[in-house]
Amino acid sequence: MVRFVTPLILASLSVAALAAQTCNNSKQCKDEKYPCCSQYGECGTGAFCLGGCDPLASFSLDSCAPMPVCKSKTYTWDNLDNAATQDKYLGNSTAADWTYSGKLKTEDGNLIMTMPPKSGGSLVANNHYIWYGKISGKFKSSRGKGVVTAFILLSDVKDEIDYEWVGADLTSVQTNYYWQGVLDWQNGGNISVEGGDTYNDWHTYEIDWTPEKVDWVVDGTVHRTLKKSDTYNATSKKYEFPQTPSRLQMSLWPAGQPSNAQGTIDWAGGVIDWNSEDIQNAGYDFATVGEVSVECYDPPSDATKKGNNAYIFTNSAAMEADVAITNNNTVMGSLGATGLDMDLGADKPSSSASKGSSTTSVANSIPTGATVGSGGMATNDDSGSSSGSSSSSSSGSGSDSSSGTSTTGDSETSTSSGFTQGTTTQDSGAAGQNERVLRGSLFGVLVALVVLVTL
Ligand SMILES: *[C@@H]1O[C@H](CO)[C@@H](O)[C@H](O)[C@H]1NC(C)=O
Ligand SMILES: *[C@@H]1O[C@H](CO)[C@@H](O)[C@H](O)[C@H]1NC(C)=O
Ligand SMILES: *[C@@H]1O[C@H](CO)[C@@H](O)[C@H](O)[C@H]1NC(C)=O
Ligand SMILES: *[C@@H]1O[C@H](CO)[C@@H](O)[C@H](O)[C@H]1NC(C)=O
Ligand SMILES: *[C@@H]1O[C@H](CO)[C@@H](O)[C@H](O)[C@H]1NC(C)=O
Repeated sequence: MVRFVTPLILASLSVAALAAQTCNNSKQCKDEKYPCCSQYGECGTGAFCLGGCDPLASFSLDSCAPMPVCKSKTYTWDNLDNAATQDKYLGNSTAADWTYSGKLKTEDGNLIMTMPPKSGGSLVANNHYIWYGKISGKFKSSRGKGVVTAFILLSDVKDEIDYEWVGADLTSVQTNYYWQGVLDWQNGGNISVEGGDTYNDWHTYEIDWTPEKVDWVVDGTVHRTLKKSDTYNATSKKYEFPQTPSRLQMSLWPAGQPSNAQGTIDWAGGVIDWNSEDIQNAGYDFATVGEVSVECYDPPSDATKKGNNAYIFTNSAAMEADVAITNNNTVMGSLGATGLDMDLGADKPSSSASKGSSTTSVANSIPTGATVGSGGMATNDDSGSSSGSSSSSSSGSGSDSSSGTSTTGDSETSTSSGFTQGTTTQDSGAAGQNERVLRGSLFGVLVALVVLVTL
């Protein structure tokens, strides 16, 4: 990690002037006014304090907003009324089930995640955290070299459970998991998908996650099981098993973008073709999402239960026993608010959380990822423009097998261009956010690490 991070930091110096303070587990946000460490390793308020805010890298454990509890629900896609862009979501998961970036469409009751030429793709994250449960999604993956589709669970302390489809291989889906962002090459696994390829044919992919195990289930058949008992580390005396409240995220991203590290590109099956058949026909690469459902399981029997509205972390060990279910409020008063002062700026009626509310611009309140990359593990960020490329993102190569996800390097540039997010102007967030989350998939960091070491 260290080897990885250092170059990142160097790479990001160029943008440092504008950048927010960077943060990670060993360098928490220092300024109480910007206490929240976003998923991408920068300190801020507002959206920085919502989904992905890392309590271990923030000013204090209660800097991030409390996490909305699990909600069992089946999602279909007649419209996007229950989805908000990041600048419009203040933590009211009742008003918006999803936040997203990129260009989404709905068609025939399905959700189309698009990736126009030179864009960073699309990302859709569910706003309700899941603390054990079964997520199920009907997907038709994207296709083509360099194009990756993902369906994952990711917690704010970087526990992660993944499905990833690499567009160069339409016969299988890759699986992976992480505990607290610790990179481990051994965790990947491939599932061969029977009965038609992953692009042309619908298949149902499930992650069945209990306190004891994770099953990856494709079309009703359990293809891979991870038992918690097999993840015990005798040295640390810890189960290195995903065990903290996590959000469901779906994305489509350009792993094979030329600016990415060769390893990432290789893993993704080659340099992305921005003149692919799908781009010629539809104007974009795309992945199609059908019905998605979330079934919440009971929390662990010994869980601390003081309410029923929000999960919070009670200890920085961030293990299962360090999560409590409380009545804490999850909705912030404005983009200037934080977990330390949830009501700040609440001058409007309570509906503020949903779409339509106006966006006030507050410095460092909507993480864009366009600034530095640093830090945390999930961050392999590269931030943006600047940094770019080079060092940053990377991934790949490594060795082999793996699967990786990773980050997109500088795509920012290219990326942003493609987005028409319609919403705001200054918020480069659209593109950036997408990448950030992608980066949030740790595998890429792992790959990046290897690459750098190799260098
Ligand atoms: C939850 O609410 C309690 C009581 O109001 C408060 O002391 C605590 O700081 C809150 N925790 C978080 C993480 O916001
Ligand atoms: C087990 O934990 C120790 C101490 O935290 C760590 O150094 C080591 O890498 C871990 N082993 C594995 C296989 O993860
Ligand atoms: C959240 O949104 C719902 C539906 O729009 C609304 O009824 C509720 O009052 C909002 N809650 C808060 C705390 O703003
Ligand atoms: C955390 O960030 C600091 C400075 O940004 C960096 O020097 C350090 O190596 C990082 N630590 C880890 C564990 O990533
Ligand atoms: C998964 O499949 C990819 C592509 O076929 C391959 O490169 C990789 O080695 C496989 N990974 C594992 C863990 O088997």
